[in-house]
Amino acid sequence: MNYQRCDQTPAWAELALLKQNHHVDLRQEFAQNPQRFTQFSWQAPHVLADLSKNLIDAQIVQALTRLAEQSGLVEQRAAMFRGELVNQSEGRAVMHWLLRQPDAELIKAKDAATEFVAQEAAEVLQTRHAMLAYAERIRQDQQITDVVNIGIGGSDLGPQMAYLALKNQATRKIRFHFVSSVDGTEISQVFTQIKPETTLFLVASKSFTTLETMTNARTAKAWFLAQGGRDVARHFCALTTNIRAAADFGITTTFGFKDWVGGRYSMWSAIGLPIAMAVGTDNFMKMLAGAHAMDQHFLNEPLATNVPVQLALLDIWYRNFHDFRSRSVAPYHSGLRRLQAYLQQLEMESNGKQVDQHGQLLPFATSPVIWGEPAANGQHAYFQMLHQGTDVIPVEFIVVKAPNHGLADHHTKLLANALAQSRALMLGQADEGGHRRLPGNRPSTTLLLDELTPESLGALVALQEHRVFASGALWGINSFDQWGVELGKVIANDMEQRLHTGITDGLDASTAALLHKLRG
Ligand code: F6P
Repeated sequence: MNYQRCDQTPAWAELALLKQNHHVDLRQEFAQNPQRFTQFSWQAPHVLADLSKNLIDAQIVQALTRLAEQSGLVEQRAAMFRGELVNQSEGRAVMHWLLRQPDAELIKAKDAATEFVAQEAAEVLQTRHAMLAYAERIRQDQQITDVVNIGIGGSDLGPQMAYLALKNQATRKIRFHFVSSVDGTEISQVFTQIKPETTLFLVASKSFTTLETMTNARTAKAWFLAQGGRDVARHFCALTTNIRAAADFGITTTFGFKDWVGGRYSMWSAIGLPIAMAVGTDNFMKMLAGAHAMDQHFLNEPLATNVPVQLALLDIWYRNFHDFRSRSVAPYHSGLRRLQAYLQQLEMESNGKQVDQHGQLLPFATSPVIWGEPAANGQHAYFQMLHQGTDVIPVEFIVVKAPNHGLADHHTKLLANALAQSRALMLGQADEGGHRRLPGNRPSTTLLLDELTPESLGALVALQEHRVFASGALWGINSFDQWGVELGKVIANDMEQRLHTGITDGLDASTAALLHKLRG
């Protein structure tokens, strides 16, 4: 593939010089340049991105855009949309974008970029229809009152985040439960709220081997049978790429997807079934349409005004040139209260890597730490540090213009707080001394949605996906594998055996002592 690692481009050197010679003071920049908002805010489908309160100026943004050009981002993006094996370490294509194409485009897939894409498109369409028909059947089924999604990571975070975001449009007939951890507290609490004859268990696992999910699934099946549940086929459904393992488990209703859907990119696939059950076919399709509109923006908008690209470039500017190590996400909407958790996996599992696509050690920093809380809550907890701490932490405010409730006064106060925080971070109180001094010039981005709808949610999530792809591509890493999580899984198996047997041979003194205490 034709790309140049970002640190080997002329733009990288240019940026290093700009960092040295340009001190951007946001207060002065706004005072001197009445066009600053217009210059550094861009409209993408359903999302206005205001980057103007960031430590950038025209020269920096131009150099960053050159960095994207010189790194071959356009070629890498095209490779993903052609279905090439972008995920090299696993030898897989990366095509979650295909899951969002409208039916009409999937049908005329003969015009698709490659034969492979055309063939996969036909399957996507078939599964989509089957899964949505099933979702509608369950929505109509008077007997089913509870759906329990058993899954973890990408098989939990996306569906749960989207369900909460769209809950005010969800059916009231069904209560949704999300069980992810192997901590038995979770599933046992759900058991106290459900009855076997009125419950549908969705076993969501791309691999159908994940320890937590399989343990919970086996426990659910044992509970179901012990409670007199009769029809496993009717009360269990699998969402997986591993159809055979689901069948071996005794599940006959399975909705599949392909290995080119990464777990953290899978809420658009069969993994999104709980979302479809909650909000129905029309809304699910609207969510896909919002994401598809963002795909088109990412594909077609020039780099200079391409919102995912510009956000990715800002991430690189902060991580590699300012050494900012984290980004705080502040969604000013309670419906988005699991968004930070979702974004944590998206960014940190995708770009938390230290080697390039070829396994060579990278000489620069990659993924920032993503963290946060739905705001207003964050304001009364850790925002103190954002204003006066010794680290500069860029904040990403996500603000929704229209409320989804009738309490106008609450909403005005919420919006006022969002505006106040980004302004206070920027202005500071530099002329005060001692405890009252706030240095100011602290950067933030505001992503503004008119309303939280299936379309805008889809667009917002796709925007974040493409931003992660773009920064990963520039860093030269594979954003679609996650080898780092494997060692912990292997050691956990060993620890489980040792917890049974008490054998501590070969262990370090700390682990051995802790193991003894846990057994005692
Ligand atoms: O262990 C990490 C991981 O593989 C994630 O990438 C994934 O989202 C999660 O576990 C769950 O995997 P699965 O859907 O295969 O159960």
